[in-house]
Amino acid sequence: MSFDPELCRNESEVESKLIVQYLLPKLGYTPDTWHQEVTVGSIRLDFLAFAVQVIPFVLDANSPLSVVFEAKHPKQNLNNHVPRLRHYLTRLNVKYGLITNGREIRIYQKVRDDIQLVFHCSGREVDARIDEIKTLLGKNSLKSINFIDNSEEQISVKDSNFQSNRNNSMKTIAVYHNKGGVGKTTVAVNLAASLRAKGKKVLLIDLDAQANTTFATGLIKFQFEEDDDLKDKNIYHLIESGDSNFIPDIVRKSQYFNNPEIDVIPSHITLIEGQEKLNKILASRNRLVAKLKRVEKDYDIVIIDTPPSRDIYAEVALIAGDYLIIPSDLKPFANQGLPTVKNFVNQVNESREMIGKLPIKIMGILASKISTNSKFLQYTFPKQRDTILERYNLPLMEAVIYDRTVLSESLNQTIVVGDLEYPDPKSVIKYAEEVKTEAQKSAMEFDILAEEVLSKIGVV
Ligand SMILES: Nc1ncnc2c1ncn2[C@@H]1O[C@H](COP(=O)(O)OP(=O)(O)OP(=O)(O)O)[C@@H](O)[C@H]1O
Ligand SMILES: [Mg+2]
Repeated sequence: MSFDPELCRNESEVESKLIVQYLLPKLGYTPDTWHQEVTVGSIRLDFLAFAVQVIPFVLDANSPLSVVFEAKHPKQNLNNHVPRLRHYLTRLNVKYGLITNGREIRIYQKVRDDIQLVFHCSGREVDARIDEIKTLLGKNSLKSINFIDNSEEQISVKDSNFQSNRNNSMKTIAVYHNKGGVGKTTVAVNLAASLRAKGKKVLLIDLDAQANTTFATGLIKFQFEEDDDLKDKNIYHLIESGDSNFIPDIVRKSQYFNNPEIDVIPSHITLIEGQEKLNKILASRNRLVAKLKRVEKDYDIVIIDTPPSRDIYAEVALIAGDYLIIPSDLKPFANQGLPTVKNFVNQVNESREMIGKLPIKIMGILASKISTNSKFLQYTFPKQRDTILERYNLPLMEAVIYDRTVLSESLNQTIVVGDLEYPDPKSVIKYAEEVKTEAQKSAMEFDILAEEVLSKIGVV
């Protein structure tokens, strides 16, 4: 078994061809001793391998001895990722970390609060130098090291794929503002992606007839109307019927939009025609609630994107949501819509009461599309935030989503196949993997938002 770096053309091929198929087996790690996409608190590791298998896993200095493996896209400069690896190793108290983009392989060792490069080779040399790597990271050699580290920090990780908080109940978050274009869809899809990247099981629901979330998650690939199978299987069908069209019948995988993929319930332009019928049936307002209840074991978090209106679809979203995020650019037009949002929330709360649901919790206004201009941030932005608190008496979220062109760029990517150009949208989290500094900043901002959301909904 040898390794050819030419086989790795993207990050997932570095993961599969170099780490999973080559390095882990060569170093003696059988599939039961390594885990992919491990989330520990706010840290997401590509791979974590254990020299000693202990359940439940407890990461500390002595037992079990573990190694972090991080894969990057072949075009990525590994230097840019060293600070993050340092953070992982020191925070988790893991002694060794291997980082590779397929062309280069580096091994770092944790030394107190820092890390040191202890091995380095090119992808081509890996076959020749595998024994040296094995001496450092091989399962058997790690087992025999008995190093002492006095850190008291212990982080326990619950289950074997570390996916999620099985004891927490599923939480549903509606993203709504009646003002159009304030960033609802951008926030919904990238927040979903960020939470998914942290290992949460996420369901994203598009309740807007504009179907922007459906497009943004890559579910619209057809060039011709007759190929459109979303028309017959979307959120409308779920709301229209009480005893059929359950979530597993309608849900789709987001495919290339994010890594890992996200479950999405799509929308369709025909939702507009369906409104009249739904309006006449009181039960249609509560069907999403009932159907979500049936999948509460399957998801940690449900995110709902809504239309910029007060129609039945917005109502369905606010009845189903446990929490409400109100994205806003904090400009006068958006502010003037806030009393209407509050009235709508009050009205929806009455409907909730009728079905025994508590009022929706307003997580807060999320400042979004905020200019990064330093003068603006210094003088105007604080005043805008004060206005919200003083005049509208609504909570403000700490996280801020800045105005970054990568957010529209990432969702408007295309791919050319033959003569045809297809949409190939990506979450900013995935886009950031392709060496885009601005995307990395934006992905970080969504990471901060995801952390705030997790802490506010009490999911760990
Ligand atoms: N933080 C941001 N930085 C830069 N551009 C953004 C940002 N958020 C949204 N946009 C852009 O602004 C436009 C509107 O955003 P988006 O579709 O997310 O808003 P929306 O509130 O969902 O709109 P609608 O009410 O029509 O559903 C899009 O072109 C999007 O790419
Ligand atoms: Mg939208």
